[in-house]
Amino acid sequence: MSRLLIRGGNRLQGEVTIQGAKNSVLPILAATILTGGSVELRRCPRLRDVEASIRILQALGCKAGWRGDVLEVDTAGMSGCDVPDALMREMRSSVIFLGAILARCGEASLTSPGGCELGPRPIDLHLSGLRALGAEIDDTGGTLHCKAAKLTGREIVLGFPSVGATENLMLAACGAEGVTVLSNAAREPEIEDLQGFLNTCGAEITGAGTSTVVIRGGRPLHGGTYTILPDRIAAATYLCGAASAGGEVFLRDAREEHLSAVTAVLREAGCDVTGGSAGIVCRRTGRLTAPRPIRTAPYPGFPTDAQAILMAALLRSRGATVFEENIFENRYRHVDELVRMGADIKTEGKVAVIEGVKELYGAKVRAPDLRGGAALAVAALSAEGETSLTNIKLMDRGYDCIENAFTLLGGNIKRVNY
Ligand code: EPZ
Repeated sequence: MSRLLIRGGNRLQGEVTIQGAKNSVLPILAATILTGGSVELRRCPRLRDVEASIRILQALGCKAGWRGDVLEVDTAGMSGCDVPDALMREMRSSVIFLGAILARCGEASLTSPGGCELGPRPIDLHLSGLRALGAEIDDTGGTLHCKAAKLTGREIVLGFPSVGATENLMLAACGAEGVTVLSNAAREPEIEDLQGFLNTCGAEITGAGTSTVVIRGGRPLHGGTYTILPDRIAAATYLCGAASAGGEVFLRDAREEHLSAVTAVLREAGCDVTGGSAGIVCRRTGRLTAPRPIRTAPYPGFPTDAQAILMAALLRSRGATVFEENIFENRYRHVDELVRMGADIKTEGKVAVIEGVKELYGAKVRAPDLRGGAALAVAALSAEGETSLTNIKLMDRGYDCIENAFTLLGGNIKRVNY
C-alpha cells in the first residue's frame, strides 16, 4: 500500500507538461475495436483505468503494449465479445465498450456497471439509444446480453447530454447502415477527440463539440496514429494547486479554451491566469476572494470533475463560496476529509458553503474518490505541517503520477509505501 506525504507551505514555482486525457483515451481505446487494425496512441497517460481497458481488450483477443508513452493496440485478432465480470467491476466506465463490440461483432455481453462512489451510474440513455439503432438488449439479472444482427442509423434525441451515452452511440453508429443523428449530444472536448480519432481511421463524423453529432455509418475503418488531447481536468488540478499554495506555474500543452469555466472563476477569485498557444500560466500572490456561486453543468458549463479541486483551492479565501453540484448525487465525499484539515464547509443536498479560514492544518486523510483525492492534495499544499493521504490508488486511476507533477511545480510531496 502507498500513500502521499505532503508538507504544505511552499509557494509553487515550476513547469509541468500536461498528460493525455483520461476521459479521451478510454473511449478511444474502445473505438480501436472498430478499426480491426493497428493503432498507435501518442501522449497516452499511464493510468489504472488505461491498464483496466488494456485488460479488457486483451480479454477480447486483442493485443496492446507500451512503447514509451505510445500505446500500440492491434484489434485484428479480436476473438470474443464478452467482457469478464471482474474487469467490468474494475472500471464502471467499461460500458463504453458496448457500442464498439456490438458494431464489430453483432453481439456483446457484459455485466451492468452498477453504481460507484459518485452515486448511481444509470445507463438508460446508452441502452435506449442502442435499442433505437436496432440492438436487442436483455438487461435483466445484472448482465447485459445484447444482439444486433443489423444496426440501422436514425435520429436519436438524448434526454440528457450524457458523455458516455454520446460516445457509446457514436461507436455503435459507425457500424450502423445509413446516417445517425445524435441530438442533445454532450459537447465535451473529449467527444471531439473521439470524432478526431474515428475520422483518422476512416469514419465520417461531424458535429462533435456541438449538440448535434452526425455519423455516416458503414464505412470500413482502418488503423492509424493519433495523439490524445491534453487532460483539461489534470490541468485544472495544477492550476488549483497554484491557487491554493500561491506562486507561479506554467502548464505546458494545457488549452485554456477547454478550461474557460475554471479559469474564469480563478481570475474572479484573484489569480492571474494567462492562456497561450504553448500552455497556461497561473500566478497567485495575495489572499483569494470568494467568487460568485459555482454551479456544475454539462460542458461548456463548470465541469463537475473540477468541483472538489476548486473547492480545495478556495478554502482560505476571504468570504464565503457557494457550490451547487448538479451532475452527480454524491460528489461531496471530500468535504469531511477537508474539514479534518481545518476547513469550514457545510453541505445541504446539492449545495456546499465554504467559509474561508485563515489556516489549514496537515492531517491524516483518505481519498474518497479520484477527484476528491486530488482536492485533498491541493488543500495539503497550503496547509501548515504534513498531510498523510491514503487510498491513492483511486487517484492513480486518473493522474499519471500526480506527485511528480506537483514536485515539478515545487511542491513538497512524495509517495511512500507503508
Ligand atoms: C463522464 O462520465 C466522465 N467519465 C466523468 O469523469 C465525468 O464526471 C462525466 O462524464 C460528466 O462530465 C469518463 O469520461 C470516463 P454522464 P459519464 O453520462 O459518461 C446521468 C472523472 O472524474 N446519466 O455525462 O458516466 C448520470 O447519472 C469522471 O474523470 C443518466 O441518467 O457521465 C449523471 O448524473 C467522473 N443515464 C449524468 O447523467 C445515462 O444513461 C452525467 O453522466 C447516463 C448518464
